[in-house]
Amino acid sequence: MEFSIKEVGNHRDDYAALLASRSACLILGMFEDEPLETVTKMIDRASAGLLSRLVKTGEASGKRDTHVLLHEVAEMGAARVLIVGLGKKGEFNERAWVDRVRYTLVSAESTHANNALWLLPVPNARDVIWSVRMAVQVARAHCYQFIARHPGLKSRAPAPKPVLSKVVFAVPVKQKKLISDALTQGVAIANGMDLTRDLANLPANICTPSYLADRARELARKYSLKIEVLEQKQMAALKMGALLAVTQGSVQPPKLIVLKYQGGPARQAPIVLVGKGITFDSGGISLKPGEGMDEMKFDMCGAASVLGTLLAAVEMKLPQNIVVVVPTCENMPSGAAVKPGDVVVSMSGQTIEVLNTDAEGRLILCDALTYVERFKPSVVIDVATLTGACVIALGNINSGLYARDDALAAELLNASKQSLDGAWRMPLDEAYQDQLKSNFADMANIGGRPAGSVTAACFLERYTRQYNWAHLDIAGTAWKSGTAKGATARPVPLLTQFLLQRG
Ligand code: BES
Ligand code: MN
Ligand code: ZN
Repeated sequence: MEFSIKEVGNHRDDYAALLASRSACLILGMFEDEPLETVTKMIDRASAGLLSRLVKTGEASGKRDTHVLLHEVAEMGAARVLIVGLGKKGEFNERAWVDRVRYTLVSAESTHANNALWLLPVPNARDVIWSVRMAVQVARAHCYQFIARHPGLKSRAPAPKPVLSKVVFAVPVKQKKLISDALTQGVAIANGMDLTRDLANLPANICTPSYLADRARELARKYSLKIEVLEQKQMAALKMGALLAVTQGSVQPPKLIVLKYQGGPARQAPIVLVGKGITFDSGGISLKPGEGMDEMKFDMCGAASVLGTLLAAVEMKLPQNIVVVVPTCENMPSGAAVKPGDVVVSMSGQTIEVLNTDAEGRLILCDALTYVERFKPSVVIDVATLTGACVIALGNINSGLYARDDALAAELLNASKQSLDGAWRMPLDEAYQDQLKSNFADMANIGGRPAGSVTAACFLERYTRQYNWAHLDIAGTAWKSGTAKGATARPVPLLTQFLLQRG
């Protein structure tokens, strides 16, 4: 799907020119219980009052999830006009807007039009710039088809669904530069989200740590980024005992991927993004139950999301220095695997009693979080499908956000609001740290069932005292289960918005 914009003034002449523009489908909105707007009135006149008659019979109501389609209206450049119900004007909030945009895409595609000129609606309390950026993301997510992008996974390729190949947004004049920037940003974010979804959806027998490293190298080559991939030997030399403990039961070699983008002055402290890259989490010796275990191929969604975010940032040419760090390995049971009760020494020197080998995410992250001290970061954000407890606490609506620093938490929550990528701040009180006490090491790797997402964050917190840090637990938000099973690409919208806001 390709996007462009066309400026339209708000005089009758401008609207007349809009109605004369050639397209397969002109798309407009109509609110419920509101008089027709100037453009719709002009269409009514061109159609010799057809639209008014449809309003009278109730066929054109403006109600949500309804639309009317007019064909071959005299003197109009569009082969058809699609008028989509937007619902009640007062209720046209962002959620309603996203639903209407999706409904519009489905309706437009059912006409088999391959291009459209779209007078994009704007939700209450938002502007055109926001709407264009978001519409691109919603539209691209709507077209995403994993199977079509990865031939070979199904022996018979599914019939491609009809899609609009070209969409032109009709937007008001004057803000052309800002709006076309928003379009570029929307496309960059969508590209990042596609990468995230692709990596996350791939099965774990394809998407191994080595595969992730190869894809990262490909990114580096394509965008001239610096890359370093640390191998097991180098991890051993750095004394990453926690990460090495997790990988020791697997036959796949672990990798620590480090990608650097320099968009700002060389001396500017970088923003560091760390993503959990467990390409399959069986639980290890503390083996998970069989049901739904396949979904643990998604345990590298944190890694996929920081790589996607980097791609978006690079395509947007953001004026920042960004370092992405991905510790990646499998968590498998075997004769060589780490066992409950084993004590390991992390890179920081702190010792950990591994009471449950299924709490492996924090083990690979703690060494990565110590490793990133060397970049003297302005901020470090780690992203991880860390705990089932977070799914219980927040479901699949909000990611769990943890930060010591109120200003950083506020910045991220604001980015979350702007991008409609929900996050909810969770506590980090020192009192929770007691749950991590161990008789045999500096700490245990689990804190019991109460507040499981919080104690996991508290564990990470002990490794992040050298810099400003935030943690996103995306266990509930990174993918969907059931018939819609697949990656969501969250929190790429939140992270890219955070980067955009940092200027
Ligand atoms: N990757 C899982 C967390 C997870 C579970 C994410 C289910 C999404 C859905 C993580 O490695 C894990 O297994 N965590 C354990 C921790 C426990 C042993 C303290 C969990 O949440 O059960
Ligand atoms: Mn686990
Ligand atoms: Zn895990």
